[in-house]
Amino acid sequence: MHPNIENKVAVVTGGSRGIGFRIAEALLEQGSSVVICSREEAGLRQALDLLQETAGPRAEAMVADVRDYQQVEKLMARAEERFGGMDILVNNAGIGLFRPIEQLTPEEWDEVIGTNLTGVFYCSRAAVGRMKRRGGGYIFNIGSLAGKNPFAGGIAYNASKFGLNGMSEAMMLDLRYENIRVSQIMPGSVETSFGRSSSKGPRSSSASWRIAAEDVAQVVLDLLRSDPRTMLSRVEMRPSKPPRK
Ligand SMILES: NC(=O)c1ccc[n+]([C@@H]2O[C@H](COP(=O)([O-])OP(=O)(O)OC[C@H]3O[C@@H](n4cnc5c(N)ncnc54)[C@H](OP(=O)(O)O)[C@@H]3O)[C@@H](O)[C@H]2O)c1
Repeated sequence: MHPNIENKVAVVTGGSRGIGFRIAEALLEQGSSVVICSREEAGLRQALDLLQETAGPRAEAMVADVRDYQQVEKLMARAEERFGGMDILVNNAGIGLFRPIEQLTPEEWDEVIGTNLTGVFYCSRAAVGRMKRRGGGYIFNIGSLAGKNPFAGGIAYNASKFGLNGMSEAMMLDLRYENIRVSQIMPGSVETSFGRSSSKGPRSSSASWRIAAEDVAQVVLDLLRSDPRTMLSRVEMRPSKPPRK
């Protein structure tokens, strides 16, 4: 247990599976209270049941779409009402639609940018005042190496994650004197159901060369434990041994 984590209140967006679920699980194991959100109720319920098995009432969930500011406001208000404040925000919810420019529809473009970029702005904006009332906080933005390495078919996803780099650092500069730290975590390929049509459930994983979702969660814990006098603004994560090209 660590004082920067134990008894703190966290919101993890996209916490029903994959990286977000593992981050929520890790924060709960270290004594935080955590509210997770996602759009789909059944998956969220399943994730909450698993989290409550060990964390009990310190785990909470609410259906919320990060593309909708009113829903985001309600999510942050729920965390504050339920647990008495808000200290940690993990902007993790994200989608990937990978198509060449002529095949990507304007609606799909809006979906990716609305989730991966505007959603981060909405959640952070709704969280900052609440963190200030607590005397500080920590915002994590789950970016991607796709935020520095463009690839064919990545027009919307690359744009969202490149944009997130700029947003994260600007936010960090806005908030540094408010005792609110902002870190951007940029993983390479992580073993989740991301970008695939079906999900195998919150704890799905398999033996793989990819980064494990638990390893991203470990970085969140490591950054939270780090001394606030130093800002670790960006962490790049890569699989050690991806298949040789
Ligand atoms: N997996 C990778 O290789 C990888 C690599 C680098 C970075 N990342 C980033 O890591 C983050 C998590 O990815 P993941 O691999 O864990 O994906 P995932 O397994 O597909 O999980 C995504 C989560 O986000 C939720 N979500 C999606 N759209 C949402 C919205 N509009 N509002 C609220 N929740 C929403 C999903 O639930 P619902 O569908 O029910 O809403 C789900 O809980 C993303 O930002 C992704 O870009 C992933």
